[in-house]
Amino acid sequence: MSDSPASGKTRMSTSLKDPDSMTGGPAFRRGTNILAVASGKGGVGKTWFSTTLAHALSKMGKKVLLFDGDLGLANVDVQLGLMPKRDLNDVIRGRLSLDKVVQEFEEGGYDIIAGRSGQASLSALPSQRLALLRDQLVDLANDYDIVIADLGAGVDRTVRMLSATATRTVLITTDEPTSLTDAYAFIKLGTAAGMSKNVSIVVNMASSVSEGEKTYRTLLKACENFLRLAPPLVGMIRHDPKVKETIRHQSPLLIRSPNTEAAEDIEKVAKEIWTMMADAKKAMASA
Ligand SMILES: Nc1ncnc2c1ncn2[C@@H]1O[C@H](COP(=O)(O)OP(=O)(O)OP(=O)(O)O)[C@@H](O)[C@H]1O
Ligand SMILES: [Mg+2]
Repeated sequence: MSDSPASGKTRMSTSLKDPDSMTGGPAFRRGTNILAVASGKGGVGKTWFSTTLAHALSKMGKKVLLFDGDLGLANVDVQLGLMPKRDLNDVIRGRLSLDKVVQEFEEGGYDIIAGRSGQASLSALPSQRLALLRDQLVDLANDYDIVIADLGAGVDRTVRMLSATATRTVLITTDEPTSLTDAYAFIKLGTAAGMSKNVSIVVNMASSVSEGEKTYRTLLKACENFLRLAPPLVGMIRHDPKVKETIRHQSPLLIRSPNTEAAEDIEKVAKEIWTMMADAKKAMASA
């Protein structure tokens, strides 16, 4: 991989001029238990990963909130087959506070804040509004063991702000070359925005464990050579046809197909993430 991510996608070519525009608005607050789930390229499994990770952590006895932070193309509710009565739009329009739009997802044993699909107004929120939303999220996070924020692909203003607010960001890549170059571009742009030090990698849809490891090593090498960064690997999830099937049936993998490779992998990753978040919290407390 060279230092010229060839993606050329407009989403990845965000200009990063002043510190405020980098993190998406006024001086930011960071949560101590918020995990952002991001990716360079779209369609790598962020939403599936976020919902299934939330489920796995809930099975570990943790109190979990899943926040649909893909403000432009929200689809947590679609994947889970939910019909939310209230969503982020109510918060953004100032009708309700964030805690009032939380809903219980009983099947998965965790809470959800739904976004609203195709609402351009949500992705084009003024910075002040976005900052307000972020502050409410940081406050609400105190009621949970962990908050997972499913972000949109790329590194636009909303992603930058939510990633900067998060304690850690998990960057998802697959072994597809374009996904890998876009993951690298995310880290590179994120470095300029001062948010990359907290990025860890998950390789999703790996054709095998060794292929997944190879993918990670390729990304790591590029980061070490060109950015002097070594984002750690949290784990990998193998490609599994059951994932698509469970999404089609809108029923959680850990209920419908708990004995599959992807289920086994994500439960392992969930344990790693819990340890990583606990360590991060300790480090923040002693800083
Ligand atoms: N481990 C896996 N094995 C097989 N298929 C997978 C796996 N992970 C995700 N997928 C498939 O990838 C597709 C995209 O997943 P998903 O919608 O979660 O991606 P996304 O990154 O959230 O996309 P977007 O960027 O559009 O928000 C889904 O159809 C899902 O079935
Ligand atoms: Mg998604």
